[in-house]
Amino acid sequence: MNDHETTEPGQDGQGAALVPAASHDHETLPASLVTDPDHFANPGLPPHVHRAADDYPAAAKRAERQVATMFGLSMLFTLVFLVSYFAIPDEATFFFPGIGLAKTQNVVLGLSLGFAIFLIGIGAVHWAKTLMSDVEMVEERHAQASTPEQRAKAVTTVSEGVASTQVNRRPLIKYSLGGALGLFALPLGLQVAGSLGPVNVEELKHTIWDPKDNGGKPIRLMRDPEMTPIRLDEVTNGSVFHVMPETLQKYIDEGKGVLEAKAKAAVILMRLDPDLITVPKAKDWGVDGVLAYSKICTHVGCAVGLYEQQTHHLLCPCHQSTFDVTQDCKVIFGPARRPLPQLKIIVDDAGYLVAPQGFMEPVGPSFWERAR
Ligand code: FES
Repeated sequence: MNDHETTEPGQDGQGAALVPAASHDHETLPASLVTDPDHFANPGLPPHVHRAADDYPAAAKRAERQVATMFGLSMLFTLVFLVSYFAIPDEATFFFPGIGLAKTQNVVLGLSLGFAIFLIGIGAVHWAKTLMSDVEMVEERHAQASTPEQRAKAVTTVSEGVASTQVNRRPLIKYSLGGALGLFALPLGLQVAGSLGPVNVEELKHTIWDPKDNGGKPIRLMRDPEMTPIRLDEVTNGSVFHVMPETLQKYIDEGKGVLEAKAKAAVILMRLDPDLITVPKAKDWGVDGVLAYSKICTHVGCAVGLYEQQTHHLLCPCHQSTFDVTQDCKVIFGPARRPLPQLKIIVDDAGYLVAPQGFMEPVGPSFWERAR
């Protein structure tokens, strides 16, 4: 039903719908609340206003071209999306006034996809308002259950509606819309395919703690974010350090892949009484009670940044997984299913803490290490 649709009060007993629900007991209602259909004249339909495209073929043609232009521009923006997805480097950024530093690719992808769908939308609206059938109709009320004849009629009405779009008579619109919608499906598929995870799972197992990334030499533990080395005598009992490998400096200097490298290399370091450490391997991989563990939660990868020095527990703030440092970071609570991987550390000749080897198991969520 369109805006001009009306219902005849009182027809087929439907006039009762205009009466307040409690009006069966008219004696209890004030006279002003008892609705009298006779007091309401049917306003009827306003005069029909013809559109330019209804009367002038040139106007209809112009509207058709406008619709096709919008669909064509939509295709252009979709192509911009597709090209940008591959062409804009992941690390490219630019300054966005009022917002700050933004990833160029995110902004271009968002804007191009937004304009692509917006232009399809306004093209369709313009098409409906200028070219599709502009007939005003009145639909009488009827019983809710439709008869087979009425259902058949509905199918006919839908078919007539499709015919009234003139889509078969206007191939320019038909093909430009088909092209716009068809192309628009590609970015969606592309994003799904691009989000299925890295093709090379081995990449996830590598962190920049691997001495191969440092010419085979042990890697110094650095404070995060100052990137200054840590001496053993600076780590007092009960203290905790957030640590990055010195190999991260190369990524910082080049300004490339910093976040990806940090995401897997983050380490938390703390010192406790060596006598409290119950797992011999954990004690051997530390120095005088100084232990280093991956900071990436083995549940779904949040940063395990909370150290409780009285209980020697590490807590992940995301879902409260709790790891007992005295038991080689065994999970004692929460959804994580695997201890935090330990990083073996020693002291170099200058008194600084270094890692002589990388992690011996994948860091982060458990599914990273599941064998293929
Ligand atoms: Fe740490 Fe869920 S990510 S508990």
